[in-house]
Amino acid sequence: MTKFILATTKQHFKIIETLADAIWREHYIPIIGIEQVEYMLKNFQSAEAMYSQHNEGYQYFLIHFNDEPIGYLSFIKQDNSLFLSKIYVSKDFRGKKIGKGAMDFVQKSALEQMCKSITLGVNKYNSKSIAAYEAMDFKRVGEAITDIGNGFIMDDYKMEKVLV
Ligand SMILES: CC(C)(COP(=O)(O)OP(=O)(O)OC[C@H]1O[C@@H](n2cnc3c(N)ncnc32)[C@H](O)[C@@H]1OP(=O)(O)O)[C@@H](O)C(=O)NCCC(=O)NCCS
Repeated sequence: MTKFILATTKQHFKIIETLADAIWREHYIPIIGIEQVEYMLKNFQSAEAMYSQHNEGYQYFLIHFNDEPIGYLSFIKQDNSLFLSKIYVSKDFRGKKIGKGAMDFVQKSALEQMCKSITLGVNKYNSKSIAAYEAMDFKRVGEAITDIGNGFIMDDYKMEKVLV
């Protein structure tokens, strides 16, 4: 059974840091290279960095499957939209509808917050996740190149699911 646990404590963020470290190394090194992965883990996915994001309004949730932490997600309301900043399921648990269950949870949260859409950014070369988002009714609505410092960029498609 899948559960979504709101992360509030430093201990929660330590667990997410451990998940992020494993998932990002496995998934993103072939896409963006080890230097950028390590830079992004340190600056955006360390327990300390995520705790700061939490204090700025990003809600992080641990995804538990049978009481084991196997992934995480994060979102923030921006105007009339819920921006899905992160959604990550550990490799061994992918393709079992856990991501879909997580997206249903995100959609329920979006509707509770009176949002008209869910938006996200996905690396242009993250083709499996783009396919998963398309299967979950997201459409490509644009592109965004973001300078994240140290000579690195995020080269993303913007995707959206309209809810109302
Ligand atoms: C993207 C991700 C969250 C999806 O979660 P998941 O548990 O693997 O997905 P599900 O099993 O719930 O599948 C949801 C839908 O996407 C489809 N899908 C999932 N993976 C797919 C793939 N590799 N190719 C094509 N379709 C795929 C499924 O068939 C399903 O559609 P359906 O209901 O019509 O059958 C997960 O695969 C993941 O964490 N990937 C790696 C990290 C990542 O890139 N995260 C996103 C960062 S922007």
